[in-house]
Amino acid sequence: MDIIRTIPELKRIIGPVRTSGRTIGFVPTMGYLHQGHLSLVKAARSECDFVVVSIFVNPIQFGVGEDFEQYPRDLASDARMCQEEGVNLIFSPSEREMYPRGFDTRVQVEELTRGLCGRGRPGHFRGVTTVVTKLFNLVEPDIAYFGQKDAQQALVLKKMAADLNMNVTLKIMPTVRETDGLAMSSRNAYLSPDERKAALVLYKSLKQAEELIKDGSRNASKIIDTMKEIITGEPLAQLEYIEIVDTTNLEHIDYMEAEVLIALAVKMGQTRLIDNIIVEVQ
Ligand code: PAJ
Repeated sequence: MDIIRTIPELKRIIGPVRTSGRTIGFVPTMGYLHQGHLSLVKAARSECDFVVVSIFVNPIQFGVGEDFEQYPRDLASDARMCQEEGVNLIFSPSEREMYPRGFDTRVQVEELTRGLCGRGRPGHFRGVTTVVTKLFNLVEPDIAYFGQKDAQQALVLKKMAADLNMNVTLKIMPTVRETDGLAMSSRNAYLSPDERKAALVLYKSLKQAEELIKDGSRNASKIIDTMKEIITGEPLAQLEYIEIVDTTNLEHIDYMEAEVLIALAVKMGQTRLIDNIIVEVQ
């Protein structure tokens, strides 16, 4: 497995892979890998000839006062995990390599980034779409893998790839959870033991919503109210949003008739956690 730091080196390796006709599977990450990331790697490994993982904590997707500096980093451990999964190449560039002095271009998806996490994190998705465009241009993947854990990000990136005629297929893989239901996230490392326990309210509230829908409830605001009670019942939790939206355009739904996305963001102490489920409404 190669660990590559610069764009010229990456191109030297990717060029011959492409011309030999091998398929390239790509998993973009910010590192500090866990089983959620590895589920994407495994999918890439089983479907593609050559697997690339990028590890880059992308400064332009963090807002002022967010956790860019503290974001956990451990390239040695990430490399070990990738090696075990049969990854062919890790691309882990420096900030300067990705954003040389004078870098002046942004890629922006408009409507899909207005709600949900876009409201509380202005500029965040613009940073994501910009870096992923650069990474796609560099790695030239046939298939790129993303997690449903970041539901809005997955939809935004699919829209970007479609709108800009990018030659890549995006596959969205299910959320991987801890045994007690907490969605795996690199940011879980920030949680104190008390916060870790309290963080279960995200999944609990989603499961409760799913139950209510199964029992025939169709009124979104009633379901949101029940979820809010669960979240606000936890003193360590500060609710940012709970929304029930259409799974394709993220527009608000009042009366549920088809598949819906239920998504929430909660601050647990200083740590911002997100989670979501898709519920099929019969
Ligand atoms: P990061 O948070 O490192 O996540 C990398 C990929 O892993 C994303 O597609 C994310 O949705 C997926 N992932 C994270 N936790 C998961 C879980 N519990 N189950 C399944 N998949 C999970 O998302 C980013 O990095 C960045 O925004 C990036 C796309 C790399 C651009 O900088």
